[in-house]
Amino acid sequence: MENFDACLKQYTEEVWQVIQSYLPPEEGCQKTVLEAMNYSMKAGGKRLRPLFLRETYRMLGGTGRAADPFMAAIEMIHTFSLVHDDLPCMDNDRYRRGLPTTWVQYGYDMAVLAGDALYGYAFETAAKAFAMTDDAAAVGRCVGLLARKSGIYGMIGGQTADVELTGKSMTAEQLDFIYREKTGALLEAPVMIGAILAGAPEDQVETARQMAACVGLAFQIQDDILDLTSSQEVLGKPVLSDEKNHKTTYVSLYGMDRARKDVEAYSLQAVKALETLPGDHEFLRRLIVSLVTREK
Ligand code: IPE
Ligand code: IPE
Ligand code: MG
Ligand code: MG
Ligand code: MG
Repeated sequence: MENFDACLKQYTEEVWQVIQSYLPPEEGCQKTVLEAMNYSMKAGGKRLRPLFLRETYRMLGGTGRAADPFMAAIEMIHTFSLVHDDLPCMDNDRYRRGLPTTWVQYGYDMAVLAGDALYGYAFETAAKAFAMTDDAAAVGRCVGLLARKSGIYGMIGGQTADVELTGKSMTAEQLDFIYREKTGALLEAPVMIGAILAGAPEDQVETARQMAACVGLAFQIQDDILDLTSSQEVLGKPVLSDEKNHKTTYVSLYGMDRARKDVEAYSLQAVKALETLPGDHEFLRRLIVSLVTREK
């Protein structure tokens, strides 16, 4: 890969074109909630989860368009998680993806509904894949995975512990649970879906999951670091949000040095898992390595 940055830019744009094609039209009596849904989807973001989905699919030999609805679905679910995460009853943040948060722009009521609507519409979108492949069993399994990894045994489970333990002391096990579930699960889902839709054998699906779990831990630790070291201009979201909310984070528990080292260590572990998979690893390897030093 000659120029990774150019490649990432191009792939991110391609992924966005796919996602965009699945956004609902803003019309009818429920127009306001449709606008609020699309507002946060269009606001930007790195599109990492659909990118991981597509590139795992392609690396493991997937062809055809059956992954497309899932790429849109995972970004809708991730965006729903952010819309609700920013609410006054959660992290109470006013800025996201370089714009006022959905609740600031559309009101608390519409932000709750927009999050709910994105979650539901994600499954309506994912179900479109049934008509795009002969392998209905694989699509069914992926829909189930999307539900599991975003729900009580995934992102919502992690957010529950995150909210409940806010302002309280936390054990290493509790922090590990929160990071694996609130962040890791929404990275595990897309790589597993990419692998399953590509027809990969079970051991490869599991290796892909382990890779994503490591990426998830590294990603959330880096998010905690950036919350302390970056700026709102660069991040597109407020800094010092964790301190404001009296959150225990990886940095507050282990210190900045260990946090930085562990971002590297988990990323290296992810690359090692990646390299045992067949296919061309280069893009995903470069992507995982680039996340170690990401600034936003
Ligand atoms: C933010 O995720 C929430 C975390 C899991 C830390 P991203 O940093 O991927 O957010 P966007 O999609 O780029 O806005
Ligand atoms: C949120 O973690 C993870 C989600 C499931 C949304 P954070 O609360 O640290 O994410 P940011 O920093 O607001 O993006
Ligand atoms: Mg939060
Ligand atoms: Mg937050
Ligand atoms: Mg954060």
